[in-house]
Amino acid sequence: MNPLKIVILTGAGISAESGLSTFRAQNGLWEGHNVDDVATYEGYQRDPLAVHSFYNMLRKKLHDPSVQPNSAHYALAELESKLGSENVTIITQNVDNLHEKAGSKNIIHMHGELLKTRDEQTGEVFYCDEDIDYQKNHNIRPHIVWFGEIPLYMDEIYDHLMNADYFISIGTSGHVYPAAGFVQIANQAGAKTVELNLEPSLKQSEFQVTIYGPASKIVPEFIKRFE
Ligand code: OAD
Repeated sequence: MNPLKIVILTGAGISAESGLSTFRAQNGLWEGHNVDDVATYEGYQRDPLAVHSFYNMLRKKLHDPSVQPNSAHYALAELESKLGSENVTIITQNVDNLHEKAGSKNIIHMHGELLKTRDEQTGEVFYCDEDIDYQKNHNIRPHIVWFGEIPLYMDEIYDHLMNADYFISIGTSGHVYPAAGFVQIANQAGAKTVELNLEPSLKQSEFQVTIYGPASKIVPEFIKRFE
């Protein structure tokens, strides 16, 4: 039998127990900040310094020693090392580095990465683990997909979804497309679709299996079945 192809979509909920805020919870990032100001290109054009200061703050948080992968990130990394990177793909909406820190290798950051910047003129992407100084270089922007921009690696992502035996969605509310539409594609491709989340997402009814609870508990438990 061919090995199972497992495609995993992660969202902010998988990193919540690691100390990173989700977006839409009470006290979430979008409650304290106006999305149009900090997560659109128009907002960036209006006030680049404010936008850089927001992402500099988020980047700095990744260096907080208390922000570490939790057992959900580790369970996914172990799954990949057991089944092989060709059989386990993480598509993440998260811009943090906790999947990498946990040891996962096959990670697609569809919404970009806090630890990267991009030159607006050339499109070149650079590693960056410090504050971006806009005053020094006006061409450098955060390597983050803002609202109204097209997420990264979409062709590759659709290929993975079309070939998935399992599609497991973890810690995402289902508010943001195209990620919110992946379950439908995976269902059409014949995959078994699973939602692991703290509470039912907007897409709950489209999943064949739903399990609710904190990711640090339900992800390692669910992943055991592939051992
Ligand atoms: P949201 O903040 O919209 O949703 C987080 C989900 O995680 C919610 O459904 C919570 O119930 C769930 N959750 C919270 N704590 C959890 C825990 N401990 N265990 C399991 N689940 C938990 O975040 P996303 O769905 O990731 O885009 O948001 C998608 C995109 O919207 C983000 O990538 C971001 C945002 O605007 C960009 O910035 C481009």
